Amino acid sequence: MGILLFVFRLFLVIKGIYGAPEVNQPRPFFVFGDSLVDNGNNNFLITPARADIFPYSIDSPSKLPTGRFFNGLNIPDIISSVFPCFFYTYMPCEHIGSEPVLPFLSLELHEEKLPLGANFASAGVGILNDTGFQFGEIIAMPLQLEYFKVYQQKLSSLVGEEKAKDIVNRALVLVSLGGNDFVNNYYLVPFSTRSLQYTLPEYVIYLVSEYRKILMKMYEMGVRRAILLGSRPLGCAPAEIAQHNELSGECSTDLQAAAELFEPQVDQMVKNLNAELGTEVFISASTRLMYFDMMNNPQAYGFVTSKSACCGQGAYNGLDFCNAYSNLCENRDELVFWDAFHPSERACRLIVEKIVNGTDDYMRPMNLTTIMYLDSRV
Ligand SMILES: *[C@@H]1O[C@H](CO)[C@@H](O)[C@H](O)[C@H]1NC(C)=O
Ligand SMILES: *[C@@H]1O[C@H](CO)[C@@H](O)[C@H](O)[C@H]1NC(C)=O
Ligand SMILES: *[C@@H]1O[C@H](CO)[C@@H](O)[C@H](O)[C@H]1NC(C)=O
Repeated sequence: MGILLFVFRLFLVIKGIYGAPEVNQPRPFFVFGDSLVDNGNNNFLITPARADIFPYSIDSPSKLPTGRFFNGLNIPDIISSVFPCFFYTYMPCEHIGSEPVLPFLSLELHEEKLPLGANFASAGVGILNDTGFQFGEIIAMPLQLEYFKVYQQKLSSLVGEEKAKDIVNRALVLVSLGGNDFVNNYYLVPFSTRSLQYTLPEYVIYLVSEYRKILMKMYEMGVRRAILLGSRPLGCAPAEIAQHNELSGECSTDLQAAAELFEPQVDQMVKNLNAELGTEVFISASTRLMYFDMMNNPQAYGFVTSKSACCGQGAYNGLDFCNAYSNLCENRDELVFWDAFHPSERACRLIVEKIVNGTDDYMRPMNLTTIMYLDSRV
């Protein structure tokens, strides 16, 4: 028997004893929520809320649409890719960046891809079940969590129950929820059902209490580290300026008020929830502040403007959806907004910089650098 074969046999024995090799294993990543983080689930559904047409993903390597509502990478993609080492729980780390996790509905999500995590997000959804109902077949939060359970069952049959539990426990989780509960529910039409039922402050209280239930369910399902994206500048999106303040170019005050109310209350809820759980499971990212920096002084961040979208039509390119017949700007990096609702890849990168390295004005109770440091030591 050759020495190589012997070494190989020995390797198999060791592998058998210690399970799969752990060195350089990427940290698992799960993503939940709306179009800010959906990376293609809606491609598989019957819904108008989709981004699988030109020119979406125009700045991706293939230039082909992927289902992301962006010109290139979105926030979860960038979080995956900015971690040459951090994303690997076990040192030493040789890989440069991990690949984005696959949409849960992707047929490629099996075998060796499964332990890397999954993206359950679906454009159009919100905290409430009725948010986005006009988009037809989208994956509302109860179903995203149901799919998370299905995922865990599949993972268990692949790697065993113990290991599956461990993978979920040590995963990083990203959640984007809340914007659609205003844009595609409360303020969808004048005199919406929800706006007749609740004043805005009452509605925010209700939303945050429902959000808490979702987070609690995630915790019960094994989530131990989750970053929650806060408010977007809802009223300052090109769509809202075009619809409400075409002449003045001012932000829509109703939606801005909603965003201002929502984030601090999520913050407080997260603080209480963590105290109750006795550990800092949930991290509140003040995307409100991150956007505020960019929108207040776009030039300081290398943007030409924050008012107009790159892809769209009508005032500020803010009317209807971005499609093959829309106006399309040449340099996507010059604009804060890619389409009427979604930031450009460059704006996403600036947000991720704050998520990774921001002070506690931006990341409460801590930034991702600190999270990765703490979690690599358990
Ligand atoms: C939303 O739907 C889920 C499951 O379909 C249900 O358990 C939950 O009670 C609903 N939430 C509200 C607020 O109606
Ligand atoms: C965070 O800060 C470190 C050290 O200053 C830097 O090397 C890294 O590129 C930053 N990461 C991001 C995403 O900005
Ligand atoms: C955030 O991350 C940086 C590392 O880039 C660290 O030096 C800093 O102290 C962290 N800030 C907070 C508030 O955790």
